[in-house]
Amino acid sequence: MGLRETLSKLPPYLFAEIDRKKEEVAKRVEIIDLGVGDPDLAPPPYLAESLLEALQDERVHRYPSYEGEAELRSKAVKWYEKRFGITPDDLIVLIGSKEGIAHSIFSLVDRGTRVLIATPSYPVYLNWAIMLDAEIKTAPIVVENDFLLDPEVVLEFKPDVVVLNYPSNPTTKIAPISYLKELAEVCRKVGAVILYDNAYSEIYFDEKPPSVLEVAPDIAIEFTSLSKSHNVTGWRIGFAAGEKKLVQRLLTVKKYTDSGLQIFVQKAAERMLDDEETPRANRKVYARRRKMVSEFLKRAGYDYWAGGTFFVWVRVDNGMKFAEKLLEAGVVVTPGIGMGDGGEDYIRISLTAPDEAIKEALQRWERLL
Ligand SMILES: Cc1ncc(COP(=O)(O)O)c(C=O)c1O
Repeated sequence: MGLRETLSKLPPYLFAEIDRKKEEVAKRVEIIDLGVGDPDLAPPPYLAESLLEALQDERVHRYPSYEGEAELRSKAVKWYEKRFGITPDDLIVLIGSKEGIAHSIFSLVDRGTRVLIATPSYPVYLNWAIMLDAEIKTAPIVVENDFLLDPEVVLEFKPDVVVLNYPSNPTTKIAPISYLKELAEVCRKVGAVILYDNAYSEIYFDEKPPSVLEVAPDIAIEFTSLSKSHNVTGWRIGFAAGEKKLVQRLLTVKKYTDSGLQIFVQKAAERMLDDEETPRANRKVYARRRKMVSEFLKRAGYDYWAGGTFFVWVRVDNGMKFAEKLLEAGVVVTPGIGMGDGGEDYIRISLTAPDEAIKEALQRWERLL
């Protein structure tokens, strides 16, 4: 017996070279980081006060429950009812949606389980499927398909699990409800379950992104997060909701892995589920930055997409080379290939830097043209 071999199958870390170069460039020019998707905006003003209040209760220093505090769960269910008009079959609290997504994959996937992953996408899905030795098919979501996974691929590959993320990081696509309905139908036909990452549900500009549970409550587990909606990536608050057996599978894995999210964090988080003002204010800021970047890209003649999320997806000749060129000028963006197949000729710009920094980045970019 040896140690786990599948770790050696993980793709090489593409950002190593960029990280090295970033250090070198930082010696001569100030770096503007439009690479990571970590909001620069302030968290809600009441948060510190809510946390201090929560700390008054002695119980908060003890082990939390595995599934989350009853009050927070019930508030999250109410949020689902108000936001999407549905009551999830089951809902649990996560230590950030990333934790839940990874453990949910673990709870569904065995060696040989057939997993269909739309790429380019958040690398957690593919890398966990690789570590678990799943039979994987990646289906590039491309502009010709309007960045939607082709339902024909589901019918052909007959997966056990389909992983989807809309609003999409990095393509910014928001899947319309009619598409999700069609996809749910083909998934039912082949007996697949849907793992749906809705972490950017509150970052939109025109139409509101739907929940997959509106059309697939019987076969889907969905992940939401307060990280981006309320600028609290460091607090680690997420939710898994959906078909009871799928949620309970995840809970089984979590019972043997973690001991839940700190009670004081959960208590302080309750107010965020009633707070629609912070996401609204965020959307206003991102809309302003999005306009700034869009005007530049339009003027410079690029094809780009900025549907939902706080990213802009830009088509260039070779994403890796382009990102290196921008880095020479001190501007960090993410080469699309870092998010998987289909991302080769793109870069991703994150709008999570102050307006002035974005403006300066665009000026540096313009000088390269
Ligand atoms: C598509 C997507 N899903 C999930 C996450 C994880 O968010 P969190 O764990 O903070 O809830 C991220 C974070 O960048 C993301 O981009």
